[in-house]
Amino acid sequence: MPLHSTHSFAELTEDDLFSQLDQETLPRHVAVIMDGNGRWASHRGLPRIAGHREGLVAVREVLNTCYRLGIPILTLYAFSEENWNRPQAEIDLLMTLLEKFLLQERQTFHERKTRFFPIGLLHKLPASTQELVHTIAQETEHFTDRTVVVALSYGGRSEIIDAANRLIDDMQCGKASGRVQEAQFERYLSTAGFPDPDLLIRTSGEARISNFLLWQIAYTEIYFTKTLWPDFRRRDVLLALLDYQKRDRRFGRLPHGVSPQNRL
Ligand code: FPP
Repeated sequence: MPLHSTHSFAELTEDDLFSQLDQETLPRHVAVIMDGNGRWASHRGLPRIAGHREGLVAVREVLNTCYRLGIPILTLYAFSEENWNRPQAEIDLLMTLLEKFLLQERQTFHERKTRFFPIGLLHKLPASTQELVHTIAQETEHFTDRTVVVALSYGGRSEIIDAANRLIDDMQCGKASGRVQEAQFERYLSTAGFPDPDLLIRTSGEARISNFLLWQIAYTEIYFTKTLWPDFRRRDVLLALLDYQKRDRRFGRLPHGVSPQNRL
């Protein structure tokens, strides 16, 4: 058993942190709200785009840490529906960065047998981005070892509404019938077939969900850190995982070892 305790991990090296992890109870699915790029840049007197560029370094670091640990599913919130309201120059740069990321990671996806799985209103992306996103999704769709889900032009509410509309369509044409069941509804979500996230990380000190995976995070453990996304590194992933492993995931049940009589 690892030495999980209440003491701070601050003084431990990365190797120490690795060795503290319990390999048996790592999350299967980690989701991340990557926040704080703009603040990281403005603290340095740089344009916001510099924060996004540095954010890409953090993306790679988190990806490589998940590969190394064998975490099968990583979901990244890269661009929300609301992000379309940002200045066009910033949107353009984010799309360019996404394309750069995909071109750079393409080979690693193949080497690591990783499926790239985009979710969101992809038809809203610029044509060149859409084409690359669809091409890499198609050429990696047969990989089952790992999945990198990237949420693009994504909003949790619109995902749920879209699922409901498609279910209604199927009911009207006789492909579905009866009263709606949770498991049935989930098959209409963009994440159908994937387990819900076990752990959701949000950086930058903000403690909100921002319309991300609203259905899927019903029982997800949430980890908020003050670290700004461009500063987020392997060590921060390990700290989040160690914190996650201290949680008692009860899914609405009583704590382990407590009989119902003790609780009354
Ligand atoms: C939020 O920070 C971050 C984003 C809106 C974009 C995230 C994109 C990246 C990390 C780079 C590209 C990612 C991939 C997967 C290719 P913010 O701009 O809202 O920061 P602020 O709250 O400090 O202003």
